[in-house]
Amino acid sequence: KPRAFSGIQPTGGIHIGNYLGAIRNWVLQQDQYDNMFCIVDLHAMTLPYDASELRPRTVEVASALLAAGIDPQRSILFVQSDVREHTELCWILGTLATYGELRRMTQFKEKSKGSERVGAGVFFYPVLQAADILLYDAAVVPVGEDQKQHIELTRDLAMRFNRTFGETFVVPEPDIKPAGARIMSLTDPLKKMSKSDPDPESRIELRDPPDVIRRKIRRAVTDSEAEVRFDEERKPAISNLLTIYSLFADVPIPELERRYAGKGYSEFKRDLAEVVIAGLQPIQQRLDELAADPGIVIRTLRGGAARARELAVAKMAVVRDRCGLGLPP
Ligand code: TYM
Repeated sequence: KPRAFSGIQPTGGIHIGNYLGAIRNWVLQQDQYDNMFCIVDLHAMTLPYDASELRPRTVEVASALLAAGIDPQRSILFVQSDVREHTELCWILGTLATYGELRRMTQFKEKSKGSERVGAGVFFYPVLQAADILLYDAAVVPVGEDQKQHIELTRDLAMRFNRTFGETFVVPEPDIKPAGARIMSLTDPLKKMSKSDPDPESRIELRDPPDVIRRKIRRAVTDSEAEVRFDEERKPAISNLLTIYSLFADVPIPELERRYAGKGYSEFKRDLAEVVIAGLQPIQQRLDELAADPGIVIRTLRGGAARARELAVAKMAVVRDRCGLGLPP
């Protein structure tokens, strides 16, 4: 089976954008690939953070992935910093990446916003991401739309390394689905739903209780018409809600348009809230079960790290050899 690799940052609560854009697809495709899913704690260090919160968040995100259906029998689930080879390969790939291409990364431009005080980790972020992927010879990288540019850079670095030092890395393909790859904010349909938005009303988190979900959807921005119709250009808010509805209920969007023809937004929103609540209910239940026995999550991550390490150590021996690093054998 081809290998699929993806990562998620242990920063704050996971939201339905992460779920519909990435995690849900990881779960649905679990039998299709040889899977690795990584909680990228080293990436989470690139912006100021509280060290005492990082481990609890790492365990929380791992719990959410397990609750969403990641099966440790079929997927390697592990924490990035448990496998030192990620940082070593990051350095090596960094010698091939150019200042110009890293400076052009949209995420870097947004997070640095011209400030000279931003940490160099924000600049190097996509190089570490490339190392995550290339270290395991991943063929497929299932992600949301916002990661497209980083996967493109990963491909460029893999090809550059192969040209410079000889065929070593698999050049990975991004796997970005046409629906759900860019779930928008509930309060501003022109911005993507994001963990870093200061307004919690802008996103629905996996852990949100039913009443909170009902309130957030009731208050979600719409438009001044009263027609439930998919038109991303003219009706971005309703189109976003239709996408969420369609993915959670597994009903095609044209069918939803027919169902709500001539009906107002409030009925549509009321039903949408129940669909989201029902979709998250089994995940929330498993989260509660896992919270009662956190040892399971830690043991799963420890086992995952051991399996990942074995692959990483073997790959880095080849990489060091190709680069002429260290002593002769
Ligand atoms: P992170 O933690 O920001 O997001 C995790 C996944 O969720 C997707 N996503 C969304 N999808 C749809 N709509 C949204 N509003 C939305 N917001 C987030 C992201 O695209 C992502 O797939 N750089 C990565 C982490 C990473 C990684 C990797 C990914 C590190 N190394 C190697 C793949 C391969 C990130 O910031 O994820």
